[in-house]
Amino acid sequence: MKKLYIKTYGCQMNVYDSARMADLLAPLGYAPVDAAEGADMVILNTCHIREKATEKVYSELGKLKQLKMRRAEAGSPMLVAVAGCVAQAEGAEIMARQPAVDMIVGPQSYHRLPEMIARVAREGGHVLQTDFPAEDKFDHLPEERAAPGATAFLTIQEGCDKFCTFCVVPYTRGAEFSRPAAQIAEEARRLAENGVVEITLLGQNVNAYRGEGPDGTKWGLAQLIRHLSRIEGVKRLRYTTSHPRDMDDDLIAAHGDVEALMPYLHLPVQSGSDRVLAAMNRGHTTADYLRIVSRLREVRRDIALSSDFIVGFPGESDGDFEASLALVREVGYAQAFSFKYSARPGTPAAAAARQIPDTVKDDRLQKLQALLTQQQNAFNQSCAGATLSVLFEKPGRRHGQGVGRSPYLQPVHVDGAAPLIGELRSVKIIEVLPNSLRGALADGKAPAAKRAVAH
Ligand code: SAH
Ligand code: SF4
Ligand code: F3S
Repeated sequence: MKKLYIKTYGCQMNVYDSARMADLLAPLGYAPVDAAEGADMVILNTCHIREKATEKVYSELGKLKQLKMRRAEAGSPMLVAVAGCVAQAEGAEIMARQPAVDMIVGPQSYHRLPEMIARVAREGGHVLQTDFPAEDKFDHLPEERAAPGATAFLTIQEGCDKFCTFCVVPYTRGAEFSRPAAQIAEEARRLAENGVVEITLLGQNVNAYRGEGPDGTKWGLAQLIRHLSRIEGVKRLRYTTSHPRDMDDDLIAAHGDVEALMPYLHLPVQSGSDRVLAAMNRGHTTADYLRIVSRLREVRRDIALSSDFIVGFPGESDGDFEASLALVREVGYAQAFSFKYSARPGTPAAAAARQIPDTVKDDRLQKLQALLTQQQNAFNQSCAGATLSVLFEKPGRRHGQGVGRSPYLQPVHVDGAAPLIGELRSVKIIEVLPNSLRGALADGKAPAAKRAVAH
C-alpha cells in the first residue's frame, strides 16, 4: 500500500472533496495516513477565502519541499499536489514559486487525479488541471468507501452566481450547479445503510439548489429535504451554507414540518447596515433578513441561528458598524463567525477607494466577538436542565465518555456514553461549559428537540 496524506483547509465542501479524493485514489493503492512524514503522496486541499488562508498554503509547501528532498535522498519519491480554491485561483503562480509541486488540480476537476498521477509517473514534470470541464465530476467519482461515522457531509450544489463584491468563490468554484435529486438520494441511501444517522447537505449556496427531480421537474431544496427525510435511517438533516435571498416559503415551511430537519440554521448576513449590504451586492436589506428570521421562528420557535459577519468592509463607518451590533442584538445568535475584511485580488471591493485601517478592523472585530460570545453563552445557559436528543459521534477525552451533538449543534459530553456511538439518546444537560455542554443519559428514547426559548 502507498501512503496518502491529505491536509484540508477551508469550508466543509473541501472536507467532502478531500474524502472523495481519498476514495478516488484508493483503487490506485493509496491508503490515508494522518501525517506528511512518510507519505508517498501529499495533497493540500486549499482555501482562498482570506489572505491568511492562502499564505498558509505557501508556508506549508515550504515544509513539504524539505520533506520531499529528504525522501528523495533516501531514494523514495513523494508526490505533492495542490487542490482546492488556491489551486484554481493561483495555479500557475504556485508552479512558478514552488517547484516541489507536481500537480495542481482545481475543485471541479479533481476526478482527473488518477490520470494526472499516471502522467507524472510516465513523463515527470508538472501537471496543471484547472479548467471547468464540460463533464460533471460527480459522474466520474467512485462510490464512497467505508462510512465516515454517525454523521456525513453530502455536496448537493456547487458554485456561486451571486458575486458578492468581497468574495472569491464565484471565481474559484465557478457557476452554480445542482446535482440531480436521484443521484443525491442514492448517495444518502448508501450513507444510511452504512450507519450514517445525520447528513449535512452542502453547497456554496445550498438553498439555491435547483436540481432535476425524479419526475423531470426542477426541485428546490425543500422538496429535496422532504424526499431525503423519508429514507430509512436518516434521522437528522442539516444544510449549509444558505443565502438569505434563497430562503423561499417552502424552505421556511420545511423547518416547521420536517421532523428530521434540525432546528439550527447558518444564515450569513455579513453586515447590519443596508448601505454596506448594497455595496457588498448581497441583494437584500436588514429588514428582509429580520423578516426571514421572524418567519423561521414562527414555524420553529426554538430554531438556533448562526451567521457570518465581515467587519471593516471598504467604506464601513462607525455608524455602519453600530448597525451590525444592533442587528446582532435584535436577532440573538446561538453561535456565529466574524472576520476582518480581507482584500482579495480580482474582486471589486479590493479596488474600492475607502479601505479601512487594520487597527479599526481589530477594534470592531473585538467588540463584535465580545457580543457574539455573550450571546453564545446565554444560548448555552438556556439549555441547562433541559433534556436534548444527542447523536453520539466519537469517544471523549475521559475514559468511557461519549461526545455528540445536540439538535442545536452544541457538542455534548456524557460520561459512560462511549458504547453509544452512532446512536441518538436523550440527555439531560447538567453543566454548561464555555464551548460545550455536559449531560447525563436520561431514561427513555430520544425525544423530539425541545428547549426553553432563549430569546
Ligand atoms: N456562500 C456563503 C459564504 C461562503 S464564504 C454566503 O454567501 O454566505 C464564508 C464566509 O467567509 C462568508 O460568509 C464571509 O463572511 C467570509 N468571507 C468571504 N470573503 C471574505 C473576505 N474577502 N474577507 C473576509 N471575510 C470573507
Ligand atoms: Fe461568496 Fe456571496 Fe457567493 Fe457566498 S453568495 S459564496 S459570499 S459570492
Ligand atoms: Fe475556501 Fe474555497 Fe471553501 S475559498 S471557503 S475552500 S469554497
